[in-house]
Amino acid sequence: GRGFYTGDDGYLYCDSLRVDDIRAQVKTSPFYLYSKDTIASNFAAYESALTGVESIIGYAVKANNNMFILRQLQAKGCGAVLVSGNELKLALLVGFEPEKIIFNGNGKLPEELAYAVRAGVLINVDSEFDYENIREAAAEVGQVAKVLLRINPDVDPQVHPYVSTGLANSKFGIRNSHLQWFLDRIKTESMVELVGLHSHLGSTITKVDIFRDAANIMCDFVERVRAEGFELKYLNIGGGLGIDYNHRGEVLPTPKDLIDTVRDLVARLGLVLVIEPGRSMVATSCALVNTVTGVKSNGNKNFIVIDGSMSTLIRPSLYDAYQHIQLTAPCTGKVENFDVVGPVCESADFLGKDRDLCTPDKGAGLVVLDAGAYCMTMASSYNLKMPPAEYWVDGDEVKLIRKAQTLDDVLAQFEGL
Ligand code: LLP
Repeated sequence: GRGFYTGDDGYLYCDSLRVDDIRAQVKTSPFYLYSKDTIASNFAAYESALTGVESIIGYAVKANNNMFILRQLQAKGCGAVLVSGNELKLALLVGFEPEKIIFNGNGKLPEELAYAVRAGVLINVDSEFDYENIREAAAEVGQVAKVLLRINPDVDPQVHPYVSTGLANSKFGIRNSHLQWFLDRIKTESMVELVGLHSHLGSTITKVDIFRDAANIMCDFVERVRAEGFELKYLNIGGGLGIDYNHRGEVLPTPKDLIDTVRDLVARLGLVLVIEPGRSMVATSCALVNTVTGVKSNGNKNFIVIDGSMSTLIRPSLYDAYQHIQLTAPCTGKVENFDVVGPVCESADFLGKDRDLCTPDKGAGLVVLDAGAYCMTMASSYNLKMPPAEYWVDGDEVKLIRKAQTLDDVLAQFEGL
């Protein structure tokens, strides 16, 4: 399959199927549509980039937690990176091996940590109190906790501040000046074993030099920690590789470019490389498929109003993120400049601003591309616009892979109260 592309006939396709035919078939709108093959090829790109490198690919489940996608990745040998007890339970249910699971977060709860220790997954330590909670969980469960220290390397990922995590003022991780506290504690602690170091700089990173700088800094940390007598096994460089949201033909770094910047360093240190890709694994595999409700002008500005909204896909509203928008059928009207907006009662409810698009008819299909990461997982039911169904194209077939939420699900929350 080729993922999403415009065919010679001017229609949008997902793999071998016309998106308009899929719209006619599924009848619901909006919906998320995935190319199963694209997820497979994104994973394969990481796998082949890692040839000859002892490694764990920990897919960041927060990017997309659809169980069909998780099962597909798990079956290929992928690991999982999790940030809540529920994500951890889901990953174990799907069958991810505990040795390939990493539990992350700056506010892990005591009961979540007890669960993680019992499951035998790797745990990233974020702070002093987090360390104390991990130690207590290990004592309570009666099992040694295997931990990595999450270092804040103070490297600028040059991305939107909301998705930047490794700068000195970030809420995540341990600063250099605090490191000794952890080393002194763990040295005398029998229930906590330090097995590695972790860093995560941020998301949507488009320059691999940034990963190289961070890896060099982490290399110094590894040497310092080893000099204190710890036998480290893992270097976890986090996730964060960006994708080409702009569709302007820019050349962006690939998984291979990323791995090649750290390959020698990891080999020299004799460490197992852990990576935590989310976006670059799933974003390109999906489009949010909407239906045009109508077109309006207020005298100053033209609007295409669709049935999808900030409830369905919040990245443009929240991060001012650009996601490419196109119509599913060839142009028959006049090209104009539009804001593409939803029906939610907020001016922040837009999917795209100032887009040159063909004036669509009522009922036309309009897609927001690159919607596989942080779109469905961030959907809400604001205005009671419920998170929609998900489908994927598998060979020549369209399959429902998640049911839409409904008003009945909301009503059920009040039943019997
Ligand atoms: N590891 C850690 C510790 C993380 O915090 C994240 C993402 C990842 C890995 C995966 O990063 P990725 O490869 O997906 O860039 N909602 C935002 C993105 C938030 C990212 C949070 N952390 C967005 O829609 O752009």
